[in-house]
Amino acid sequence: MGIKLATGITPIREVFKIDDGTQVTVRGWVYRRRDLGEKIFIVVRDSTGIIQTVFNHPMTLKAKKVGIESSVIISGIVRSDKRAPGGKEITADYIEVIGKSEAFPITKDASREFLLDIRHLSIRSRRLTTIFKIRDTIFKAVHDFFRKNGYYEVHCPMFITAAVEGGATLFEVKYVDGSTVYLTQSSQFYLEALIYSLEKVYTIAPSFRAEKSRTRRHLTEFWHAEAELAWSGLNDIMKVEEELITYIVNKTLEENYEELKFLGRNINALENVYPPFYRISYDEALNILEESGYKVPWGEDFGADEERVLTKQFDKPVFIYNFPEKAKAFYHKNNPNRPEVTLSADLLAPEGYGEIIGGGERIEKERDLIAKIKRFGLKPEDYQWYIDLRKYGSVPHAGFGLGMDRLVMWITGIDHIIDTIPFPRTIRRVYP
Ligand code: 4AD
Ligand code: MG
Repeated sequence: MGIKLATGITPIREVFKIDDGTQVTVRGWVYRRRDLGEKIFIVVRDSTGIIQTVFNHPMTLKAKKVGIESSVIISGIVRSDKRAPGGKEITADYIEVIGKSEAFPITKDASREFLLDIRHLSIRSRRLTTIFKIRDTIFKAVHDFFRKNGYYEVHCPMFITAAVEGGATLFEVKYVDGSTVYLTQSSQFYLEALIYSLEKVYTIAPSFRAEKSRTRRHLTEFWHAEAELAWSGLNDIMKVEEELITYIVNKTLEENYEELKFLGRNINALENVYPPFYRISYDEALNILEESGYKVPWGEDFGADEERVLTKQFDKPVFIYNFPEKAKAFYHKNNPNRPEVTLSADLLAPEGYGEIIGGGERIEKERDLIAKIKRFGLKPEDYQWYIDLRKYGSVPHAGFGLGMDRLVMWITGIDHIIDTIPFPRTIRRVYP
């Protein structure tokens, strides 16, 4: 048995490239079993694919007892068969059960809630496995992009002392010394501190939001790719965002065409993602919404409904810029030509998906920052170190945050953020 485990194992995907008549050994988990009396079919999966194995008498005696999701090693002869999924199967002459599985709890009619309760097992599904492979490509692509473009990867704390994105979604944590601290909503302020030495920085880390509403696009713990650039403004980062998203989508099409097809993703919609993306002002967005029967009072941010209506009208991502001051967090720089709006932009994914990136130019003058903190009813003393950065060689700078799970949701074309991540954390779920 030791030898079989250590050597001579063929990844299942590779079996389809092997000539008929060759002896192979595969290992994996039992995906499906069909008993026809004189024949038993066991479909086995590993991380690379699935294949049908066929057991004839007397091998059927051994195959009979093998339950769904048992881990097995199977040897046999490769044969072409049009009826087999993928056109090849293995006629088995050896099976060994490594870990048995009796009464695997997932059946075809399992409810969505039940599957979430046993997520530690349901993550084995073909659909989720496919999504997680695409997620892997997307994360790799973000790192590739930033490294190729001269950014330094940095790491910021998750325990913080004051809100970045407003108090309503802050998670409180009792710290070791008995004081109250919070889980970070964004690494932005720390990235801003790091541009004074590294100039171009990025991080991919969790961010936490105590989101009280149940929606299809909110997690309480999500993965956030954030970048910050010294010596730059709103237009510069919009260009970076456009190039980043294009790079990621292209990489996914290159590496995961089969997976996207399996999920039923509209490939044309992704092939259409290249610069320039659309750019509309907040005011123009309000007009489009009004024509569609949605009246948003000037100054309000958009919700999921508005973004769905808006982005259904675009065939590639769209930037919305010039958001009103009160619709965005306090750190955004106001537009010098029109002080009631900010030099901010959201990037919305098309096809109804909505916001995937928020970003903009930051306030670089101490005086302006303190004034705005006060206008927002916040206390300058809570933001002392952040204000301090403006005293020592401040420079114009800008940055953005990309919601990785939302990006995965759009690229894979799925309808709920929960399935973009193996163990989702939402208002109702922190288990398993
Ligand atoms: O628009 P947000 O709140 O912007 C910031 O946090 C900035 N400080 C980022 C920066 O400039 N460095 O969040 C950025 C993105 C959103 O566009 C969205 O994609 C995602 O983070 N996001 C969430 N994703 C899943 N669940 C949630 N609860 C999310 N909240 C925000
Ligand atoms: Mg936002």
